[in-house]
Amino acid sequence: MLTYQTESVDATQDLAARLGELVQGGDVLCLSGDLGAGKTTFTQGLARGLGIEEPVSSPTFTIIKEYDDGRIPLYHMDIYRLGEAAVHEDLGYDEYFYGEGVSVIEWSEYLDDLLPEDRLLAHITIAEGGGRTLQFTATGPRATARLKELEQLCPTSH
Ligand SMILES: Nc1ncnc2c1ncn2[C@@H]1O[C@H](COP(=O)(O)OP(=O)(O)OP(=O)(O)O)[C@@H](O)[C@H]1O
Ligand SMILES: [Mg+2]
Repeated sequence: MLTYQTESVDATQDLAARLGELVQGGDVLCLSGDLGAGKTTFTQGLARGLGIEEPVSSPTFTIIKEYDDGRIPLYHMDIYRLGEAAVHEDLGYDEYFYGEGVSVIEWSEYLDDLLPEDRLLAHITIAEGGGRTLQFTATGPRATARLKELEQLCPTSH
């Protein structure tokens, strides 16, 4: 596990932007954490790292939004509105997960078994004092490689 502490929106987005510089097509990043933890904020930083200039907003009402003006496409998903029903309503997720872009999924826990095995998880919690704790874990070789690259680019004191 790789853990970061960010004390501002900018710090969260700078970290996310570094990850955005590293990700490759077919990477899947799951973002978990409470409402308002910073999942969309993180995604905005990641988009910046991909060179995406179109503003990234919360895709809650669209479920999936695609941004094509960066180094590789970004597929930003927010499963919150589908909730428990998500597993019964396959919106063609695999086209994204195994596509040319990077998938970033808020509330991915609702997708459960529909998620690819090899994925990177960032769990965001609101720390005492208002900062954010970001805990990254990898569940396969692809995600593990990305995590190592991130650690090299952004060393932690932990
Ligand atoms: N260090 C920080 N990192 C990220 N966001 C922060 C930080 N400090 C404060 N914030 C604030 O927390 C909020 C995070 O909102 P955001 O929409 O990113 O959350 P979310 O996890 O996507 O929520 P939801 O589950 O509703 O989609 C923003 O208002 C942002 O300004
Ligand atoms: Mg959000």
